[in-house]
Amino acid sequence: MTAQPTEALSGTLRLPGDKSISHRALMLGGLAVGETTIDGLLEGEDVLCTAAAMRALGAEIERDENGQWHVWGRGVGGLGEPDNVIDMGNSGTGARLLLGILASHPLTAVLTGDASLRGRPMARVTDPLAACGAEFIARTGGRLPLTVVGSRDPLPLDYELPVPSAQVKSAVLLAGLNAPGDTRVVEREATRDHSERMLAYFGATIRRSEIEIEGCMASEIVLSGQPELTGRPVRVPADPSSAAFPLVAALLLPGSQTRLIGVGMNPQRSGLLTTLQEMGGDIEITNAREEGGEPVADLLVRGGPLEGVEVPAARAPSMIDEYPVLAMAAAAAKGRTVMKGLGELRVKESDRLATVARGLNLCGLEIEEGPDSLTVEGVNGRPPGGNNQPIQTELDHRIAMSFLVLGMASERPVQIDDATPIATSFPDFTKLMQDLGAKLTDV
Ligand code: S3P
Repeated sequence: MTAQPTEALSGTLRLPGDKSISHRALMLGGLAVGETTIDGLLEGEDVLCTAAAMRALGAEIERDENGQWHVWGRGVGGLGEPDNVIDMGNSGTGARLLLGILASHPLTAVLTGDASLRGRPMARVTDPLAACGAEFIARTGGRLPLTVVGSRDPLPLDYELPVPSAQVKSAVLLAGLNAPGDTRVVEREATRDHSERMLAYFGATIRRSEIEIEGCMASEIVLSGQPELTGRPVRVPADPSSAAFPLVAALLLPGSQTRLIGVGMNPQRSGLLTTLQEMGGDIEITNAREEGGEPVADLLVRGGPLEGVEVPAARAPSMIDEYPVLAMAAAAAKGRTVMKGLGELRVKESDRLATVARGLNLCGLEIEEGPDSLTVEGVNGRPPGGNNQPIQTELDHRIAMSFLVLGMASERPVQIDDATPIATSFPDFTKLMQDLGAKLTDV
């Protein structure tokens, strides 16, 4: 696919449902008693893999003709052994959260995924989960395919996150659902709290308190085990990580005016908005409200000049998936943008520090890639763009969409080698962007 230089974007966009919340709604629905209805579920490949996995474990899951999803759960601890290998596709979140659930069920399951997922580290969840009594047999480096033998008598876990990861936090909490007593997770840096919010919404007792460790403030999250979860109606907000692409594209194209409706505004997800506003981006936040326990708002975005900034490491957890597209904004900004604390980018769907740096280099930009930092010299206007060599996207949906945004804002078109991974998180990306005026072509 190729993005051609585009003039301006205009129109109103309703974005697909939040990927993180969609996975959790299907999983908690499958662990609840009674019916969970889900409106606005992201129907991307990642989430469809989670739906298939929960079905394989015994939950009943249907989509009706109006697009509403219905889940009839098996109750906490009530899932059954799958009769085949579970394929989680491209989804790290799906795989890691599911491992948490499986660890405290008395069953054996085998998980696999696509080439990208089979290369990603799973020890970050299997190490803490083993303490509940589960056994894991993985490939070298703790990689998929992996067999989990869940615990018959799961013990509650007490774990301090060594890396700021909502996936690890959630895996531990989900394992704790079927263990007696309190499961405790400590995080020194706040990460997205969708699991905590949704667990409380489904009826679990879960509390967060601030504690001091070695002179630093941290959060302690305590879940009371073996609750009865009750099926609930869930309304999934629009995914801020998907909104990031039309948002940055509109900012980079002078004359653009775009409205993005019902975008999730969870404070642990809004680091990109803060950063773009610091860069001088014209983003008006309107109609702030709450939907299904999550804050949402409409965003009115107008194109205009941006200035380079320094993005502090402390902000990384709240915008971890947005650095690739921020790097595209930085390329067009005036001056240098320095992004720090990016070590976790190396273990995403691709090594995003490397894929972004390589791609921007290919598009004529001056980049400095550190072990966990990225510096982009902005060109104060349209970056040069592609040089007839496609950008290698490494099965990474966000790398694909980021470079298409760059192509819209560049002097020359930008071609990517493979657009198919976009369907994992944003199946209608091409059509919705074209509706706003983006020039995207198939080859
Ligand atoms: C996610 C957490 C983040 C994020 C991923 C979704 C989640 O991963 O990158 O896209 O839904 O919990 P980490 O927890 O590994 O940082």
